Amino acid sequence: MKLSIPELQSAEKPLVMVTAYDYPGGKHAEAAGVDMILVGDSLGNVVLGYDSTAPVTLADMIHHGRAVRRGAPNTFLVVDMPFGTYHTGVTDAMRNAVKIIQETGADAVKMEGATTEILQVVDNLTRNGIPVVGHVGLMPQTATAQGGLRAQGKDDESARLTLDGAVALERAGAFSVVLEAIPARLAKLITERLTVPTIGIGAGVGCDGQVLVTHDLLGIYEGEQKKIAKRYAELGRQAREAIAQYAAEVRSREFPTRENSFVMKDDVLDKLY
Ligand code: KIV
Repeated sequence: MKLSIPELQSAEKPLVMVTAYDYPGGKHAEAAGVDMILVGDSLGNVVLGYDSTAPVTLADMIHHGRAVRRGAPNTFLVVDMPFGTYHTGVTDAMRNAVKIIQETGADAVKMEGATTEILQVVDNLTRNGIPVVGHVGLMPQTATAQGGLRAQGKDDESARLTLDGAVALERAGAFSVVLEAIPARLAKLITERLTVPTIGIGAGVGCDGQVLVTHDLLGIYEGEQKKIAKRYAELGRQAREAIAQYAAEVRSREFPTRENSFVMKDDVLDKLY
């Protein structure tokens, strides 16, 4: 049963969120009973093979978001607004968020940052009935400006910026805030300061919920092991082994067998001969 925003906010914590990018991903996540699914723009890295999330387009997010929704009709679905779709003003952001909601069936959108401009966007969207999840700490869309894909909030200035950003996002109307790659004690402090749930990734155990990129969790995306992720399966290795076994059986004519083949009556075949 899909949880509503008040139910998510008052649910017994910790909340569980995973990313999904396609129909089977949505189906598995829903069957596993997660509280929320995120169609993350990590799509760019783990599915589309880009080396950052910057090239991901609105059309990409909508295409994948729709597939996830078909697989997970009864789970709260959040779709990331990709880079550039909420940075050119409140009107553009509204138009793009409406497109995501209408065309994917998502329940909410997520966006990174807490600058004055982004807070205006969050305020405008939420006043107009589009639920928003905020995102502070490491923000992959603008990681170059943050000094690379590295933990944030470790020094005075960065810790203050992260805390203030999270508080401002709640004030602007975000119903939940993702905290990515920040010290666990800072995430705990933010969680205590906010009334809306924090969802951590690489932010320690003190958050109200956790999110992981499914392709990291399942071992499908096998880049360098990330500190912020834990691998619960080795599906990448299993996939390679299974495909290699299939290839060997095709070459040795072990596959297909009679069980994989269709039969026909002798007289039908005789006529052809
Ligand atoms: O794009 C994504 O998958 C995300 C999560 C890491 C929170 O934003």
